[in-house]
Amino acid sequence: MKKICVMGCGYVGLVSGAGLAQFGNYVTCFDIDKNRIEKLRNGIMPIYEPGLQELVEENSRAGRLDFADDLSEALNNCDAVFIAVQTPQDVDGNANLEYLYKAAEDIANSTAGNPVVVIKSTVPVGTAKEVAGRINDKFEERNLGYIAEVVSNPEFLIEGKAVKTFLEPDRIVIGCRQDEKVCTLMKDLYSKPADEGRELIVCSNETAETIKYAANSFLAMKISFINQMALLCGETGADIDTVAKALGSDSRINPRFLNPGPGYGGSCFPKDTKALVRTAEKYGVDMSLVREADDSNERHKEILAGKIAAIMNKNGVSNLAVWGLSFKAGTGDLRNSPAIAMVKSLYAKGLHIKAYDPKAMKEAEHLFKNNNFNIELSADMYKTLEGAEALLVATEWECFRESDISKVASSMKGNLIFDYRNILDPIRVKSEGMKYYGVGRRYETD
Ligand code: UGA
Repeated sequence: MKKICVMGCGYVGLVSGAGLAQFGNYVTCFDIDKNRIEKLRNGIMPIYEPGLQELVEENSRAGRLDFADDLSEALNNCDAVFIAVQTPQDVDGNANLEYLYKAAEDIANSTAGNPVVVIKSTVPVGTAKEVAGRINDKFEERNLGYIAEVVSNPEFLIEGKAVKTFLEPDRIVIGCRQDEKVCTLMKDLYSKPADEGRELIVCSNETAETIKYAANSFLAMKISFINQMALLCGETGADIDTVAKALGSDSRINPRFLNPGPGYGGSCFPKDTKALVRTAEKYGVDMSLVREADDSNERHKEILAGKIAAIMNKNGVSNLAVWGLSFKAGTGDLRNSPAIAMVKSLYAKGLHIKAYDPKAMKEAEHLFKNNNFNIELSADMYKTLEGAEALLVATEWECFRESDISKVASSMKGNLIFDYRNILDPIRVKSEGMKYYGVGRRYETD
């Protein structure tokens, strides 16, 4: 049984820590935030993820998972220490590695042994080498005679499905110097999913670091591509749903991430595409496809908001209800949310907006207050529609997909529906005397 320390009890750290414990390892999760550790010890999760609470409870009870606010204690007798701290976007688009370097320095200063250092955070190519150098400098200062081994083990968690994606990954990427002892240790830590047939890709650190950015950027390109196609369909009268279905049925393409919408958001795609472009610039390599996917994503939100404003203006109305504020369904996360971008843009265009989200109301209240946006929030999905002349569906929550269309029609003052996740049935909407505008679905002529 291996002993692991995970640094950082945020989103990636906590899910990875609990998941690695579920794989049969002994895990101590460390965080500098003592309050967070105290809460975790009492079973209070800092984030909401389906199944996380149960996973933490089960592994804590089994004695495989505990929490520490003292790093030397957490590192005691560890075989590996996973760094899972944030690497946010810097003002210039690069990944900010300040927290990661600090974590590496803390390990080098606090450890008595020489655990394998595993980078879980998303970091640009070359970071593992830099981290190894920094740790080795400290080891030398401390006269320890150790040589640091740094492994790149990027995480592919999907927010809202994080536990499932950790326990049942499509693949596990292990980047290292091909040292046999290190490879054996890493394979040991992941032996449970490997035995279940999950693919283990062992490669160099540089390759592993690149895989993470390549994966996120490819998915971002797929979304921007389908969104551009959708805009074209909207103009020509072709139907994007059928186009996407036919494209996705080609096994070389596959149907996932071909859902048109208001653009991608969240804490990963917008940040990672930009960071990859910056890295390519550094090496003088053309990464224009990824840059354009990102630029197009930014323009897309504004184009869609512009369409709403134009149609409402033409109809002489200004009261808009918005359903959904989070960046996707299943989360209360508002970071880089296309819904928020559209709300801000439409607010600036002078519309009166009332909004509802099943999970992000507190976060939204905070955000609107901080930005001095006078946007009304409603605690009830149908009450949001009272007085509304138009409705924008901006996030694909199940409750919107299954909404009672007659109730929508009778609750609203006007009859304009902007279904920007293409989740409503246009024929049903029109049967209630309303006008339907989707993304790449043409049911109206204006
Ligand atoms: C993404 C990746 O999917 C994960 O594999 C990766 O581990 C993670 O980033 C990360 O780097 O940590 P996440 O940001 O949680 O995960 O969310 P996604 O489900 O990928 O959605 C991202 C955005 O794309 C959302 O705004 C979503 O609405 C949008 N999207 C997704 C579309 O507009 N259309 C689609 O067909 C799919």
